[in-house]
Amino acid sequence: MEKTSRNIILIGFMGSGKTSVGLKLSYKLRRPVEDTDKLIERREGCSVSEIFARRGEAYFREQETKLLEDLVRTGHECIYSVGGGTPVRPCNRPLLRQLGTVVYLRAQPETVYERLKGDTTRPLLQCEDPLGRIRELMESRREAYETCAHLTLEVDRMAPEAIAEAIETYLPGAHG
Ligand code: S3P
Repeated sequence: MEKTSRNIILIGFMGSGKTSVGLKLSYKLRRPVEDTDKLIERREGCSVSEIFARRGEAYFREQETKLLEDLVRTGHECIYSVGGGTPVRPCNRPLLRQLGTVVYLRAQPETVYERLKGDTTRPLLQCEDPLGRIRELMESRREAYETCAHLTLEVDRMAPEAIAEAIETYLPGAHG
């Protein structure tokens, strides 16, 4: 088995818990965790919101693809939580699946809305009707998430610890 195939990739909408689950999983499996938004921020020297404001969303999406291409090449045994929009670009989907086992954390729009009410760090949700936007975006992304995922978990009523446990159970060999 290729080394990169043992990475675990967490995908899902903003607020689905990818970052917190990644951290829990990292303790459990004793593997490093990386958040791709943070890696892009480090490369660019500014926050995701600043990248959107200064360079636009299309530029940010290009950086997501470039980063995935680099990660596929470097292939550490890692857990990656990726930005909610990463699976939307069709070329990113095979890259994500090549990078490792893709786990989709699926949450309902209302769950996401409750969690992200008042958040100012997601440029796509800074609008008059964030719940409407969440519903719309989620619907348009549904197929992207589903075609990308090796494993899907319904996470609305689950705490990050329980989600991490479920991933550990469903991915035998995750301990390496
Ligand atoms: C985005 C999700 C964000 C971040 C950017 C765009 C999206 O990541 O990449 O704001 O398009 O859904 P999180 O899912 O970690 O919030």
